[in-house]
Amino acid sequence: MNRHLLSAGDLTRDDAELILRTAAELRSLADRPIKKLPALRGRTVVNLFFEDSTRTRISFEAAAKRLSADVINFSAKGSSLSKGESLKDTALTLEAMGADAVVIRHGASGAPYRLAHSGWVHSSVVNAGDGTHEHPTQALLDAFTLWRHLGVGGGLDGRRIAIVGDVLHSRVARSNALLLRTLGAEVTLVAPPTLFPVGVDTWPVETSYDLDAVLPKADAVMMLRVQRERMNGGFFPTAREYSRRYGLDGRRMATLQDHTIVMHPGPMVRGMEITADVADSNRSVIVEQVTNGVAVRMAVLYLLLGGATPGSSAGGDE
Ligand code: NCD
Repeated sequence: MNRHLLSAGDLTRDDAELILRTAAELRSLADRPIKKLPALRGRTVVNLFFEDSTRTRISFEAAAKRLSADVINFSAKGSSLSKGESLKDTALTLEAMGADAVVIRHGASGAPYRLAHSGWVHSSVVNAGDGTHEHPTQALLDAFTLWRHLGVGGGLDGRRIAIVGDVLHSRVARSNALLLRTLGAEVTLVAPPTLFPVGVDTWPVETSYDLDAVLPKADAVMMLRVQRERMNGGFFPTAREYSRRYGLDGRRMATLQDHTIVMHPGPMVRGMEITADVADSNRSVIVEQVTNGVAVRMAVLYLLLGGATPGSSAGGDE
């Protein structure tokens, strides 16, 4: 394992499997009345969030607390950042406070790299979403969820995962494409032509404009939110037209194989990319993704901060 987690593409198959196995051991804690381990006692984790977030920030906070770390939550609103402080000065402040890990979400693609490689901080840096670039812990929790449902016995080798919607603005899609490929799955991205990024042909995936053709072959379908806050032009004629072509509704869900699961990273826009009956159906693992997110982030913090693999004495640091 590296000291930082910046991109899902940096993880080898061994790294990713170590995180998933560690998460599996830690997940059993979620079902116990006392959900805490002393593993990171005395360590400090800073959540540095420059963009809005509900589940990712809370998930990292719960993960750090369940490992007994001290957690400092820092959001751009209401801080000196709104007075014009730079990322550098914020980083120097965190360093002076002795942060062991900085979990950063930022609207600019590449901000976590800047923080990790600037020499401003000595802590581990975890990318919790940078612009439209990457969101590696989301991909890890998605892989973990897929693994629990589809991986029984043989991992994800050859499993077909469809990722559907606003690929252009989605850091979740890129991180998943990289990680799922590393884990042996076959990824198909489905979107209208206007919502594919330039250069998608260099990604390790297939692409399609035709959702109805892809659904019957998929073992899992991951729906993406249409990220209106990142759009400044007309990427599709109307919301109704988008839903008709690329939304997952009951009729389309009926064309899935019996074992196929439906995923969404949240936040969902019900009625846009997914209908309420699909989101609440027994194929949906959307709520379970949130539970798994805490276990996966516990595993990441534990391994990055040098915790031993549970049950062994091996170090997890570089
Ligand atoms: C995603 C994100 O922020 O990239 N959500 C998340 O972290 N759970 C996807 C989104 O905002 O649509």
